[in-house]
Amino acid sequence: MEQQRQALYDQAAAVLRGNDRGQWTIPAAGLYPHQWLWDSCFIAIGLRWLDVQRAKTELLHLLSGQWSNGMIPHMLFADGDEHRRDRELWRSYLSPFAPEHIYTSGLTQPPMLAEAVVGVGQKLSSSERRSWYQTVYPALVRYHQWLYGQRDPHGEGLIVAIHPYESGLDNSPPWIHELRQHSMPWWITIVQNLRLEGLVNLFRRDTHFVPPGQRMSNIEALAYFAALRRLRRKAYDTERILSRSLFAVEDLVFNCVAIRANQHLQGIAKTINRQLPDELLASFKKAQNALDALWDGGSGYYFSRNFVTHKLIREPTIGALMPLYAGTITNERAEELVGLMKAKGHFATNYPVPSVPLHSSYFNPFKYWQGPTWLNTNWLLIDGLRRYGFEADARLLADRSLEMVGKSGCYEYFHPLSGEPAGAAGFSWTAALTLDLLHHA
Ligand code: GLC
Repeated sequence: MEQQRQALYDQAAAVLRGNDRGQWTIPAAGLYPHQWLWDSCFIAIGLRWLDVQRAKTELLHLLSGQWSNGMIPHMLFADGDEHRRDRELWRSYLSPFAPEHIYTSGLTQPPMLAEAVVGVGQKLSSSERRSWYQTVYPALVRYHQWLYGQRDPHGEGLIVAIHPYESGLDNSPPWIHELRQHSMPWWITIVQNLRLEGLVNLFRRDTHFVPPGQRMSNIEALAYFAALRRLRRKAYDTERILSRSLFAVEDLVFNCVAIRANQHLQGIAKTINRQLPDELLASFKKAQNALDALWDGGSGYYFSRNFVTHKLIREPTIGALMPLYAGTITNERAEELVGLMKAKGHFATNYPVPSVPLHSSYFNPFKYWQGPTWLNTNWLLIDGLRRYGFEADARLLADRSLEMVGKSGCYEYFHPLSGEPAGAAGFSWTAALTLDLLHHA
C-alpha cells in the first residue's frame, strides 16, 4: 500500500515537472500550451509540497497578467510564433486595461487565487507568510474589487459571468442551454442546415488531441467562438457587453468559489493588519446570503441563474453541491447536499463525483463537463465536507479519487462509473491535487 502511494506520488510529481515552463505550468502538453488561472491555483496547491518557492512563482506569474482595472485573465499566452493564432484570437490589446508586456485573454475564471495564496502560506513560517501575504494583497484586493464592482452591477452579491469559459466548466449544461436559447447567431444555423460544421474541425485544436465525442459539438464550438468575437468587439468592456447581451449567467461554481475566496481574503487582511475597503466588505456581506436566491426547494438543487431574466436555469450540475465549499449554508442544508451527493440516480457512482447527475438528460460519462469526474471539483467538495464536519465522507471521496488516478493515471477527467481515463494525458491539476490529497490522507 505504502509503495503504491509512493508510486502515485512520484508519477504526479513527474507530470508537474514535465509541464513546468519555468515560471508557470501548462495544464497539459499539446492541448493546453498557455497558463490558465484556476489551473495555476490548483497547481500551486500541489506544488507547495514539492517546492514552495516555485508555488509562489506560479501565482506571481499569474498576477503579472493582471489588467489595470483589476481583472485577472483566465489565460496568459505563451510567446512564440506557433502561438500567434491563439493570441490573435483574443486580441487583449484592444482593451485599454490590458497589460502591454504580455498577451492575455479578456475574461476571468473562478477566482481560486485567495485559496491558493493561503494554501501556499500554510507551508511558510509565520514571518514568511506575512511577507507573502503583503506581496499579493494589493493585487487580490483589486481583483475582488473588480469582481464585485464590475460584475455585480445590481449589487446582489452574485457575480455574473459573460462567457462559458469564465465558469471553468466550459460546456456545462446550463451554459449550453443558454447558448441554444439566446445566443445562436443566424449564420450558425445556416452552417448547421448546410451541414458544413465538419469544416470546423480544421480549426479546432481540442479534437486533434482528444476523441471528438469527449468534447463539445462543432456547432457549439462555433457558437462559443461567435460569443467570444462579440466580447472582443466590445473590447471586453463589461458595461457595454451587459447592456445588450442575454448570454450572461450568475454561475453557481463561480460564485461559490468567490464566496470562499472572500473569506480567505478577509483572513489574509487580518493576518497582516490591513483594513479591507468598506465597499468591498459590504459586497462580501451580500455575497454570504446570495446563494439563497439560487436554491430551488422543489427539486432540492441549487441552480445557476440567467442574469437578465433572473430565472433559474434548471439544468442540474455538480454546482448544486458547491455551496458546501462556499461554507455559508446552514448545517441542515449541508446535510441535505451530502444526501444528494450520495443519492442513487443523482451523484452516487463508483468513482464520484460526476459533473452532472445521472438523471440529467445531458449525462454522458465521457463528455467533458457533462458527466465525467474531475479531480478539481472533488478537491473543492472534500474541502467543504471537512469544514462542515463530514470527515468520513471527505475521506471516502479522497480515497476514491486517489484510487481512480492510481488506476488510470493523471488524466484530465474520468468515466464516473468505470474510472476509465479521458481527455488530456499528463494533466497538471490532476497531478497537483493528487499530491495534495496524498498529504492529507
Ligand atoms: C478547459 C477547462 C477549464 C480549464 C482549461 C485548461 O477549458 O474547461 O476549466 O481551465 O481547460 O485546463
